[in-house]
Amino acid sequence: MSTSDTLKGVVVGCGLGGSSFIKGLHQMDGFELVGAADASPDALQRVKDQTGCTQLYTDYRQCFSELKPDIVCVHTYPPTHHEVVQEAVKYAPKGMITDKPLGDTVAHGREIVDVLKAARIPVQVPHGHALKPAAEEAMHRVWAGDIGALRTVEIQCVNWDIMSAGIHWLHYLVLLLRDDLVDWVMCATESSAKTYRDGMRVGTTEITYLQSKAGVRGIMHTGDEVLVNSDFGNMSYRMIGSHGVIEWGTGGALQNSYLIQNAEHPTPTEIVPDYQQDKLKYLTILAEQIRSGKPDYTNIEASLQALEIVCATYPASKCQCKIHLPWDDAEIAGLTPDDPFWPGMPYDGVGGGRDGKTYRKYT
Ligand SMILES: NC(=O)c1ccc[n+]([C@@H]2O[C@H](COP(=O)([O-])OP(=O)(O)OC[C@H]3O[C@@H](n4cnc5c(N)ncnc54)[C@H](O)[C@@H]3O)[C@@H](O)[C@H]2O)c1
Repeated sequence: MSTSDTLKGVVVGCGLGGSSFIKGLHQMDGFELVGAADASPDALQRVKDQTGCTQLYTDYRQCFSELKPDIVCVHTYPPTHHEVVQEAVKYAPKGMITDKPLGDTVAHGREIVDVLKAARIPVQVPHGHALKPAAEEAMHRVWAGDIGALRTVEIQCVNWDIMSAGIHWLHYLVLLLRDDLVDWVMCATESSAKTYRDGMRVGTTEITYLQSKAGVRGIMHTGDEVLVNSDFGNMSYRMIGSHGVIEWGTGGALQNSYLIQNAEHPTPTEIVPDYQQDKLKYLTILAEQIRSGKPDYTNIEASLQALEIVCATYPASKCQCKIHLPWDDAEIAGLTPDDPFWPGMPYDGVGGGRDGKTYRKYT
């Protein structure tokens, strides 16, 4: 039942990503789904069938101006997120959900962060896996030192790519590393199948490799044909420390658990967290921030850092280079794939370069 405290929300983009928040606003106490916008009349019809909501718009601008919602949830394709957010902010919502990736470019992602922070509007990016109990508990155990010092994170993920799902795993990595920032990123992508997803061209097979300032390695295998060699089905997140290993994932029989191996558990041991939550907790967190008047931008800042890593992978792959973070627009714009220095070919002594036998950055 709607009360004066009820937060009235609309969803823009009523496909897979928007469906959870349509359900959340419709069913959760303290929220009300007052309208929805989607360019597709079929998508709007599905919202009507599922929720009975009748304030349906093919133009989100009209939706905002007529309904003036408290909460706007943006689940269109990445290249449009910034336009929808900019438009929504004109109507001063109390809070926003903006789906991942924040944008198709770092500039668009930064635009969203900047405009929401300037207006002090609380926002959450629904990186649902960061709230998955097994993943959340695993992160706390790494922070607590239960596997010693974190050395390597290895992610394997089939059927998805760096931009669509990889950003979830990178967002988790940014949170896991806390104040140890990602220093540089390398990547190899191949596009043999010309794969596209969510309105973006993506790699068919991809390997992302990164190093943090403290030397933690991140290795992420994504793509249509990645064979995940794990008990966690279609996605495995392995955190390897100096004194143990923790692994969680999204598929297989263990998907609600994590495995830990350390001094206390000499063989891999399954732990099942004793609580439940899913990505709709982001609505609860948002409501808490709206009611307290204290926006916390940790989640969206981590999402922006993850977008920087994602957006660095493509030029890194194209230009055969590593890209240092934080993101530098001028440096990235100046990259050129023109003159590749192909490893594995004889060195002919011309064209400069570095003598690797004498160079020592670390000893
Ligand atoms: N957080 C998550 O776990 C999660 C899960 C799935 C998708 N997503 C994200 O949701 C976004 C959409 O992906 P999807 O899988 O829902 O795609 P989808 O194709 O299922 O749905 C997208 C919907 O947006 C509508 N749309 C697109 N542009 C629009 C515009 N300018 N105005 C109004 N409507 C518009 C389309 O008509 C479509 O109905 C992407 O950013 C994706 O990464 C997030």
